[in-house]
Amino acid sequence: MAQASIYDQVLDPASRADPYPLYAELRNTPVARQADGSYVVSTYHEIAALLHDPRVSSDPRNHPGMSDAAPAAEEGPPGLPLDFIRRDPPGHDRLRELAMRPFGPPHTPGRIDGLRPWLTEIATGLIDNLAGQTRADIVDDVAYPLPVTAICKILGVPPEDQPRFRAWADAIIDAVDPTTGTLHERTRRRNRVNAELGQYLNGLADAHARHPGDDLISGLLTDTSPHGPMSRGDLLATATLLLVAGHQTTVNLITNGMLTLLRHPGLPARLTREPALIVTLTEELLRYDPPVHLLPNRATLADIPIADTTIPAASPLALVLAAGNRDPRRFPDPDRFDPDRTDNQHLGFGTGIHICYGAPLARTEAQVALPELARRLVNPRLVTDPPPYRPSPVLRGPRHLHVDYDTVAPAEQVVRAASPRAST
Ligand code: HEM
Repeated sequence: MAQASIYDQVLDPASRADPYPLYAELRNTPVARQADGSYVVSTYHEIAALLHDPRVSSDPRNHPGMSDAAPAAEEGPPGLPLDFIRRDPPGHDRLRELAMRPFGPPHTPGRIDGLRPWLTEIATGLIDNLAGQTRADIVDDVAYPLPVTAICKILGVPPEDQPRFRAWADAIIDAVDPTTGTLHERTRRRNRVNAELGQYLNGLADAHARHPGDDLISGLLTDTSPHGPMSRGDLLATATLLLVAGHQTTVNLITNGMLTLLRHPGLPARLTREPALIVTLTEELLRYDPPVHLLPNRATLADIPIADTTIPAASPLALVLAAGNRDPRRFPDPDRFDPDRTDNQHLGFGTGIHICYGAPLARTEAQVALPELARRLVNPRLVTDPPPYRPSPVLRGPRHLHVDYDTVAPAEQVVRAASPRAST
């Protein structure tokens, strides 16, 4: 029997807790042809070059074959047009530009930053709930509810519908998880959920069309730009994309963040003393232990000479962002978590035309949740290290992160303790 390639070992769930030694081995061959004709790219400069290369396509119709190890391939609402993460220019650029207008600067500069106090309130409430017990699951108790609550607010899902919306979000995440059934079964489940979610979003769009509010769906419906407004199909595909692309990723960022804080004694206390550290710390997390480990969904449209090889046209590509983030040719001392690192153009959000649309929101959520957790859980200890991981090699993160603590500091006291004078 042929020996498993390094990439096969990366895909094996047994490697999920620590794939980084395998990534170091992958980097010995920056662009590596696999037995099935696909190419695995693992070094920083080569990944960045390919993500900026117009001869590399994200459109599944150009992809010669999708495997079960590529959950991103299954994403996308059935019966709807392709969402923009899976489109190439010019369709991608038009839809992304339209979707960006009600989400961020220059058209809507206050949307995400304006959510900060509200997000803090939500995170504070979630951590308040941990009082009266001495063990929390950071995933289920904090990291998981925050992003879905945030995306509901942004899309304009009314509070009374949020439990239903959350159930769909859960079902989609479940259907992406390869341990919950065969690809066929999961695709069927996923299609069913997508149909229900699509129907719900369609009704929501009707309601917002009648009474536009200050939410993203209303913004998309009433857009007066020369490219707009979006068709109803594109709007539903975009809203579903925002839910799917922004949920598990942000859960992983907050959970990986807490895990990293607890693996570095003194770091939670330092973050409490120096709240401004959260900015560089968040970027370092996105480099050191990113939520998206690889992009398995690209294909070449032409021969591309790169490194010491030429990738032929019509080859599937897997771009291992997490390996590029530890490339010593780009980052000094790459295996060290350095929360003060400043030269840090990591690949955690990708790069090029598909660079993460929701990055400002994801950063804000992590920057709100992690300092709250660091300040308020008194004497926190990891229960199991490493924690159990979800099997996905793409969206990599713990399934649970159990933490023991002595008590939960009250929020008001925390505010006082966080002030520079009180903390010295
Ligand atoms: C820590 C959290 C997140 C991480 C690590 C992350 C990571 C990424 C990465 C690596 C890509 C590039 C995909 C590619 O090139 O194929 C991407 C694209 C995207 N992300 Fe995120 N993401 C996060 C949060 C979010 C959130 C909160 C949203 C929505 C509000 C979002 C929406 C999107 C969208 C729509 C795209 C596609 C952009 C395009 O095709 O132009 N992401 N994200």
